[in-house]
Amino acid sequence: MKVSTLALSVSSILSLAVAAPHKLHHHGHAEKRAVTVTNVVDMNGNVIASPNVVTRTTLVGQANVAVMTTTVKANADAAVAAATTTSTTTSAVAAATTTSTTTSAAAAASATSANVVADSGSSSSGSSSSSGSGSIDGDLSAFSGPSQKFVDGTIKCSDFPSGQGVIALDWVGSNGWSSIMDMDGNMSSECKDGYYCSYACQAGMSKTQWPSNQPSDGKAIGGLICKNGYLYRTNTNADYLCGWDVQSATAENTLSSQIAMCRTDYPGSENMVIPTLLQAGGSEPISVVDQDTYFSWLGKKTSTQYYVNNAGVSLEDGCSWGQPGSGVGNWAPLVVGAGYTNGISWLSLIPNPNNRDAANFNVKIVATDGSSLSGVCAYENGQFTGGSSSGCTVSVLKGSAKFVFY
Ligand SMILES: *[C@@H]1O[C@H](CO)[C@@H](O)[C@H](O)[C@H]1NC(C)=O
Repeated sequence: MKVSTLALSVSSILSLAVAAPHKLHHHGHAEKRAVTVTNVVDMNGNVIASPNVVTRTTLVGQANVAVMTTTVKANADAAVAAATTTSTTTSAVAAATTTSTTTSAAAAASATSANVVADSGSSSSGSSSSSGSGSIDGDLSAFSGPSQKFVDGTIKCSDFPSGQGVIALDWVGSNGWSSIMDMDGNMSSECKDGYYCSYACQAGMSKTQWPSNQPSDGKAIGGLICKNGYLYRTNTNADYLCGWDVQSATAENTLSSQIAMCRTDYPGSENMVIPTLLQAGGSEPISVVDQDTYFSWLGKKTSTQYYVNNAGVSLEDGCSWGQPGSGVGNWAPLVVGAGYTNGISWLSLIPNPNNRDAANFNVKIVATDGSSLSGVCAYENGQFTGGSSSGCTVSVLKGSAKFVFY
């Protein structure tokens, strides 16, 4: 196992992984979380925006720049688990086997309100794809709808509420749900009373549902609640289950085989099961989450994190918890991060400390016509340009950007 053990700290709470990935029943509550933590700090090291649970301030003393710090935490894999436990929900708690990397990239801070422009790159080519599963393309065209409100108490917990942007993840094995947890983080493969049933939205959208009351231990819970056998919203401020994110980035695959980008489910299990499938020659919106309005807990904000699998990896293999050394899922070679705050979108390419092998693709972040980015950021032959070995970031100052895979 090539995972180094670091001392537990506040931040390692996030990388706890628990035993036996296959057991989802009763005792062996498998909890696996792919965690990426991102903070944006200003020149004084004050956090402007930071998702998830860790506050990490990294100071880069340069006048008039905002510095983005991105930390990717390796997932403790079950086999490495250093069984310490309180015999209750978790059978074995992996001791934060964490490698953290820090990326700093200057982002123009004197920002204007970046005028977020539609990059109406038509999404998806409606091609067949996704073996076996219902369509993960979703039922909405890019950046339009939804139009049909979710009605509480009308859909059984044993049914899955597909449509209006909600997509079923058939390969996850939870009847379409992305993860199912109770308020203590106990997991279930069945959406049943007392559980929060989290779901995926089509590419470019994020779920709107999570309870305002959250566990105090740093876990985050999201999704619909199952009560008396029926599904209810946990955030009644939202009429629809999915909402479009900021329209400032797309991903385009110029290669001849597909690329499975797999987003972590947050707030939720943080498993990287939420798919954005880039068909050969296809493009899809990237979810740039508005950190100023999206889920925040204990003062920490959310960003979008995708594990990017090698070209050719299937959706089901890529958007699932991977085996050590498999190179897929949480072992995929690259992570893409995105977020929007204070009028600026930031986009990152980040190495996965679980896997230092070069990916079988290159990718660069480029401005679309009429747009402007701060900095350059690319990943070519396993090396980052515009940053360091720990990745790179650009800010979208105006318009939109494109991740081009080649
Ligand atoms: C989670 O599981 C533990 C152990 O089985 C149990 O004591 C606890 O009540 C469960 N939490 C909830 C919210 O049901």
